[in-house]
Amino acid sequence: MTVPATTRQLRSLVTPEGQVRISLATVDTPQPRPHQVVVRVEAAPVNPSDLGLLLALADPGAAEVDDSPEGPVVTASVPEAAMPSMRARLDQSLPVGNEGAGTVVAAGDSPEAQDLLGKRVGFSGGGAYGEHALTTAQACLPLPDGATAADGAASFVNPLTALGMVETMRREGHTALVHTAAASNLGQMLARVCLADDIGLVNVVRRPEQADLLRDLGARHVVDSSAATFMTDLVEAIRATGATMAFDAVGGGRLASDILNAMEVAVTDPDAPYSRYGTDVPKQVYVYGSLDRRPIELRRGFGFSWGVGGWLLMPFLASLPVDDLVRLRSRIASELTTTFASSFTEEITLDQVLDLDVLRRAARTSTGEKFLIVP
Ligand SMILES: NC(=O)c1ccc[n+]([C@@H]2O[C@H](COP(=O)([O-])OP(=O)(O)OC[C@H]3O[C@@H](n4cnc5c(N)ncnc54)[C@H](OP(=O)(O)O)[C@@H]3O)[C@@H](O)[C@H]2O)c1
Repeated sequence: MTVPATTRQLRSLVTPEGQVRISLATVDTPQPRPHQVVVRVEAAPVNPSDLGLLLALADPGAAEVDDSPEGPVVTASVPEAAMPSMRARLDQSLPVGNEGAGTVVAAGDSPEAQDLLGKRVGFSGGGAYGEHALTTAQACLPLPDGATAADGAASFVNPLTALGMVETMRREGHTALVHTAAASNLGQMLARVCLADDIGLVNVVRRPEQADLLRDLGARHVVDSSAATFMTDLVEAIRATGATMAFDAVGGGRLASDILNAMEVAVTDPDAPYSRYGTDVPKQVYVYGSLDRRPIELRRGFGFSWGVGGWLLMPFLASLPVDDLVRLRSRIASELTTTFASSFTEEITLDQVLDLDVLRRAARTSTGEKFLIVP
């Protein structure tokens, strides 16, 4: 297979003065080590976490584009409050794109890597927003016959996160879940997983159209935070499912608090004697996204048996026994175009990412508006 000597990659750099600079760099095509492969990228989704790295929390609405001898450079101001968290990336031109799909065009000497040569795979590992990406053989999922690159482009992050939520629920002794921003691409996958596996799921959305979308998928418990009856609806749905664990993608404002308070009301036995310490039923909210950047506000009416913590896919995967990871990945491969299907509204090229109109639209993270980069 011919592999060009150089390749183009989308890069994001934050300057010490507080500016993010997004550009296309031409770099040497990476050489695989024994356990690595080089994938010719054919499709890569624009996920919220990719936007976090690409934009460094800058507002794309206020971005500008400058011409340089190497091509266009998009620049925008990083919010001052975010600069301390950027310290470890200052002045580094970072590749972007957590996952994608494409064809393996070069492989290291190990049998696992050689076995992938010429195959179309979904992959994770960074640098997916480029013509070629270097990753490990272990981070590749050979796509089933007939699956397109678009089918496999989002086969890691959201599918494994949806399954990871269910695994975490079981591991920590809970039996049903609450999920927020539930009409997201990930939320739709989780809704299908919970239906297939007969797990109670309370889907929290913020607009009536999102509730309709989930009900059309078959979701049984959908509550809309914009409804006047939100808190009573939430308590009722939690009571019906027995959900005492929540995964919260919003991660700001009062939603986590509302969920804990609703859980406490739902699990309180009306005939039990009053306790000023609340119930002893463990209630857990895992914040796994930052869609709302305000502080989390906890209004405590939920006793003392509760927790709010962070949840991230990579540490979860690192804690998973290998057999379990194999089981999850083979389920994703066999249900790639059903349970774990992603739909993309627009395909854009690497060059178009540097077009301000396109970048602003791709950065919106609105329901059903996921973009696919096709290098
Ligand atoms: N921790 C991890 O390891 C991990 C892994 C994978 C994904 N994630 C997170 O999972 C979330 C979903 O990802 P995705 O790719 O499925 O996203 P997506 O398809 O782009 O959907 C984003 C959803 O969030 C909603 N939303 C945006 N801002 C909101 C806010 N302030 N309050 C309530 N809802 C809001 C949008 O609804 P509207 O149309 O109403 O805006 C949309 O339904 C993201 O937060 C992502 O970062 C985390």
